[in-house]
Amino acid sequence: MMFRISKLLTTEEVRACRQALEAADWTDGRATAGHLATRVKDNEQLAEGHPASQRLGELILQALGRNPEFLAAALPLKVLPPRFNRYRGGGQYGMHVDASVFSVPGTPHRIRSDLSATLFLSEPEEYEGGELTVADTYGEHSVRLPAGDMVLYPGSSLHRVTPVTRGTRLASFFWIQSLVRDDSQRTLMWELDGAIQALGQDIAGHPALDRLTGVYHNLLRQWAQT
Ligand code: NI
Repeated sequence: MMFRISKLLTTEEVRACRQALEAADWTDGRATAGHLATRVKDNEQLAEGHPASQRLGELILQALGRNPEFLAAALPLKVLPPRFNRYRGGGQYGMHVDASVFSVPGTPHRIRSDLSATLFLSEPEEYEGGELTVADTYGEHSVRLPAGDMVLYPGSSLHRVTPVTRGTRLASFFWIQSLVRDDSQRTLMWELDGAIQALGQDIAGHPALDRLTGVYHNLLRQWAQT
C-alpha cells in the first residue's frame, strides 16, 4: 500500500534543506547504482559522507520519530540514513526495483528494505516531469507532492522517476525495515489502528476499545520481527 505523509517537514526545515542542498557538490547517481540500475539511472546524488547529508539526514530522522502517521504506517524498526538526489536537464530513473538489503555505512549493520520513502524537497511548480511512478496490481500510480511531503511504498514495487524536462527536482530517499515485514499484514495493522483511534474519539471509554487495543498489540506480538 502507498501512504502519503503530509508536512513531514515544516516550511523552515524544508528551507534549511534547500539551502544546504543548493550549495552542495553533487556526484553522478550511477556511482551507487547496482549493475542493472546503471543502465536506467540518470540523476545526481549527494555523496554519503557529505556533511550536509549527515546533518539533514538527522533532521529528517527526528521528523520521522515525532510523526504519528509515519509510525503507524511503517511500524519502523530501522531506518537507513536518508540520502539526497537531484534531477534536472532530462534526468530520470527508469523502471527498477530497489536492492532488498542495504549496508548501513560505517557500521556492520544491514537493513532490509521493506518500505521505500521519497521526501519531496522541491515544490511541484518548480519543475516539469519528475513524477515518481509506482506499479502495483492496480496499475501505475504517479506522485508529485509539495515540498515537505513524503510518500511511502512497498520496497518490492517496480517504480521509476520520469524525466525532469524543466527546473530542478530535489528529494530525499531512504529505506525502512519494518517490525512487520509483510506489506498486507502491515496494512491490516494500520487499518486496525485507524479504526481504534476513530472509535476512541466517538465512544471514548467503551470497554470494547480495550479489547480491540489488546488485539492490536497481540497481533503485533505475533507478527513483529525484531
Ligand atoms: Ni528506486
